[in-house]
Amino acid sequence: MLLNRKQRVTLNTTPMEEIGLFYGSDTGCTDDITKDLVAQWSDATVVVHEIDDVSAADFDRFNIIILGLSTWYDGDLQSDWEVFFEEFKTIDFTNKVVAIYGLGDQIGYGEYFIDGVGILAEVVLGNGGTIIGHWPIEGYRFTDSVAIIEGKEDHFYGLAIDHDNESQLSDDRLEKWISQLKAELQSYAVTHNEIAV
Ligand SMILES: Cc1cc2nc3c(=O)[nH]c(=O)nc-3n(C[C@H](O)[C@H](O)[C@H](O)COP(=O)(O)O)c2cc1C
Repeated sequence: MLLNRKQRVTLNTTPMEEIGLFYGSDTGCTDDITKDLVAQWSDATVVVHEIDDVSAADFDRFNIIILGLSTWYDGDLQSDWEVFFEEFKTIDFTNKVVAIYGLGDQIGYGEYFIDGVGILAEVVLGNGGTIIGHWPIEGYRFTDSVAIIEGKEDHFYGLAIDHDNESQLSDDRLEKWISQLKAELQSYAVTHNEIAV
């Protein structure tokens, strides 16, 4: 199997590729899910950053990035993400593959369910990034969300976790999403690295 050398430098999705994970949590729920994600994705090196402790430059070294956040008030970013947001908008996501997971409450805040995922997705796409890990809206009860993909309305831009109402489903959802990400990363690498067999 031959890999195009230049492209391989651009995105190497071997198990040794480091994944940069950046997350924020107000009351600890996203924190818990993040720990579970890292534990479940044990065959990769996931370098975890709390978003209140980073600068835009910290994103540079990662080609594969995972963003985690909760949504607060009526569709607002988690508070640390809110503070970082202006700087986040300066990041160039060209050649970066990004997956997003969001925590929210589909019953209490059904008009704004995981809106934060959509807010971050818009920046990533606008700044040249590719988003993987789209997640079906099926099975959730909510009325609206800016995390719904335009033109693919039966999917969110990323994983939706409702720890407030459906914590019993969180492990299973996370496990499925990680498997999906692994498969998508593999196929992204095949497409973009021009692998010749
Ligand atoms: C005051 C308040 C406002 C909230 N606003 C939203 C919202 O607009 N959309 C949503 O999906 N969830 C909303 N939630 C639910 C939180 O996102 C959810 O509880 C989440 O698990 C918190 O995660 P964290 O502890 O990591 O911050 C809200 C919760 C509270 C208490």
